[in-house]
Amino acid sequence: MIYVRRMLQQALRVSGRSIFPLLKWMERWAEAASAAAAGQEGTKTALRTLDEMPGPSLEGVKRYGSMWKASFGPILTVHVADPALIEQVLRQEGQHPMRSDLSSWKDYRDLRGHHYGLLTSEGEEWQSVRSLLGKHMLRPKAVEAYDKALNNVVDDLIAKLRHSRHSQGLVTDIASEFYRFGLEAKGHIDQRLTTEAEKVARGEKVEGRYLTYFLSQTGLPMKTVYSNVTELLLAGVDTISATMSWSLYELSRHPEVQTSLREEVLSIMDGRSVPEAADVARMPLLKATVKEVLRLYPVIPANARVITERDVQVGGYLLPKNTLITLCQFATSRDPAVFPNPNEFQPHRWLNKDETHHAYASIPFGVGKRSCIGRRIAELELYLALARILMEFDVRPDPEGISVKPMTRTLLVPENVINLQFIER
Ligand code: HEM
Repeated sequence: MIYVRRMLQQALRVSGRSIFPLLKWMERWAEAASAAAAGQEGTKTALRTLDEMPGPSLEGVKRYGSMWKASFGPILTVHVADPALIEQVLRQEGQHPMRSDLSSWKDYRDLRGHHYGLLTSEGEEWQSVRSLLGKHMLRPKAVEAYDKALNNVVDDLIAKLRHSRHSQGLVTDIASEFYRFGLEAKGHIDQRLTTEAEKVARGEKVEGRYLTYFLSQTGLPMKTVYSNVTELLLAGVDTISATMSWSLYELSRHPEVQTSLREEVLSIMDGRSVPEAADVARMPLLKATVKEVLRLYPVIPANARVITERDVQVGGYLLPKNTLITLCQFATSRDPAVFPNPNEFQPHRWLNKDETHHAYASIPFGVGKRSCIGRRIAELELYLALARILMEFDVRPDPEGISVKPMTRTLLVPENVINLQFIER
């Protein structure tokens, strides 16, 4: 009975006037109640229910600590802002992890008769495309094969930066320059994908490395191929542009780091002018710099999971299945309990053996089966572009510039345009 009362209180708080969420919550609470009653021995007394969790409020970590609930219209979500709790959620995410419902995106695609791509598909459909794409996008050797194509795009970027300079080498709004860079890099990969897809559709034989296997071996419908191309584009352009912008913004404001990084690049290059995948693999400070940039500015500041298979235990609470769980990555990656001087740009912290961090404290690409499939390509793209920019230019702040803060527009983006000086070396 107590469950029914709590259930109704919770449902009314969350539902507003619509009956549908009320019914949904009744279902969830009934399930939670029966799970508890069915005797999860040993945990029965210790576990608390959603009703006992602080919230609903958006005030977050400052007010409630590491776990609280909040409502967005009829949707209730549990926020988790502690590396150990994020780990608990991700370790229970099941066979086919679901990020969130993304219902408007899905409704639009249904309406237009489009297929789903990797970002939005679920269950077996997601699994089959993920396994195929994973072979070509996550294996280090397969990704290294993109370095020539990516270096062509870096050539264009360097030429464009030279061309866009005003007096004193100032380039205004660098994010839009890097947006074109992300688009072009993605374009090179997709162009290949699409050309091969068209060959397959004509029944022609397809050869080569890259993503051709994905197309030629599977017989995927063209609509699915195109949806994947669209969604890879959606996921892969702004993310690169924002990370490039923040990297150069921070390096311009930390000339000592920029100098050490340039020294590392030049020593590995030993007189050669175009770094390749094997070169950047030997540049630890470059990797640490990108890690540090993504710690401070995780492009996706909060991620989510909906665990559909069963109720889950997180931080002493029993969360009914289908609860939307928000993983607050921005909060954990700037937590002073995990990272000393959390708001400082200190790439060397990643090279210091005495400084260890919880493995889930900074996870800008996510972790596990549903983590970013573009991670290795993104990292290679960032390493190749940053290394070459530092070889060509001394990057300095805009003499009239202001400090730029991040803001959330679903993605974490700069609040103001970033202008930087690119001084020829
Ligand atoms: C700095 C660059 C990038 C960052 C920080 C980033 C971050 C992320 C994050 C946090 C996720 C969600 C992971 C999860 O739910 O656990 C994700 C998913 C995804 N990313 Fe990236 N990403 C980046 C670049 C890229 C690029 C360049 C591509 C494509 C070439 C890409 C393609 C995708 C796709 C397709 C997914 C969905 C994977 C799935 O649902 O199975 N990302 N990314």
